[in-house]
Amino acid sequence: MEIGFIGIGQMGYPMAKNILSCGHRVHAYNRTPEKAERLREFGAIIEKSPMDVAENSEKIIIMVSNNEAVNEILFGERGIYHSKRKGLVMDMSTISPIFSIEVANRLKSSGFRYIDSPVIGSVPHAERRELNIVVGGEIADFNEALEILKCLGKNIFYMGKNGYGLIMKMVNNIILGGTMEIISEAFNLGEVFGLTREIMYSVVSSGSAGSKILDFKKDNIINDEYEPFFKLSHITKDLRYAIDLSNSKNIILPTTSIVQEMYKLSMRMGHGEKDISSIYLTIKNLSD
Ligand SMILES: NC(=O)c1ccc[n+]([C@@H]2O[C@H](COP(=O)([O-])OP(=O)(O)OC[C@H]3O[C@@H](n4cnc5c(N)ncnc54)[C@H](OP(=O)(O)O)[C@@H]3O)[C@@H](O)[C@H]2O)c1
Repeated sequence: MEIGFIGIGQMGYPMAKNILSCGHRVHAYNRTPEKAERLREFGAIIEKSPMDVAENSEKIIIMVSNNEAVNEILFGERGIYHSKRKGLVMDMSTISPIFSIEVANRLKSSGFRYIDSPVIGSVPHAERRELNIVVGGEIADFNEALEILKCLGKNIFYMGKNGYGLIMKMVNNIILGGTMEIISEAFNLGEVFGLTREIMYSVVSSGSAGSKILDFKKDNIINDEYEPFFKLSHITKDLRYAIDLSNSKNIILPTTSIVQEMYKLSMRMGHGEKDISSIYLTIKNLSD
């Protein structure tokens, strides 16, 4: 199959490689061209614009940062929207569900098909094809996307109409972001009183306060190394979208709002491009 892949960032790169190794032809585009060039040696065709990708592909995967990036890729000067060929757009970025529903309506009214299919899991899961993928859109489009989604992930869930993959993703990331923040608060308290991070990890992970996110991020915290798998700026954005979603129905998210303020503060302290686990640094700095 001819598959378009737009957004060759930390997640997009291993995902696009997996599509290639499933035997499909990949038409790749990235705003910063050097990142897409890395795929050439694996057989990808590098395109000059999102529109060129769409002209050459029956399905187009988008994996970019946020609403603004998706808007540019779709509706910018040489965006997908201007392509004469109108394929199935599979947006795997984490964007606002409200914005995604608007996008779906606009694309569908001009002949495209569109699903939101954000992913749960990080770079190692993407590399091992172990992402969980949550999909919103027409069931026929979901069924058509399945073959490609199976090249990327192990658990693929149909959540309902357009926007519902992303609503599920908001649920997930409220828990993820909140848990990471509270682990950091608790570990910092223990550390100030002289407990080591190693012993705190051993005790917490052996009881019911343990979690997958603690297991996944323990090395970052223990070694004070915050090379990003999942950038702190991304969780800050995700929580903002979750709060916007709650406001659309007068739902309260009191703790999430405070957690998001902590991540915003962390960004102001210069940690946006570090891993989500660098929230630990912020809490530590504020406690010293
Ligand atoms: N990393 C994770 O663990 C993880 C897990 C689950 C979900 N996600 C979500 O997956 C998405 C991608 O994450 P990532 O970690 O791969 O991010 P990333 O490494 O920061 O890559 C972001 C991509 O978006 C592109 N981009 C940003 N702004 C753009 C714009 N205005 N126009 C065109 N392209 C633009 C970037 O292009 P340039 O290269 O030119 O900057 C890059 O290709 C995000 O929505 C994130 O929240 C990430």
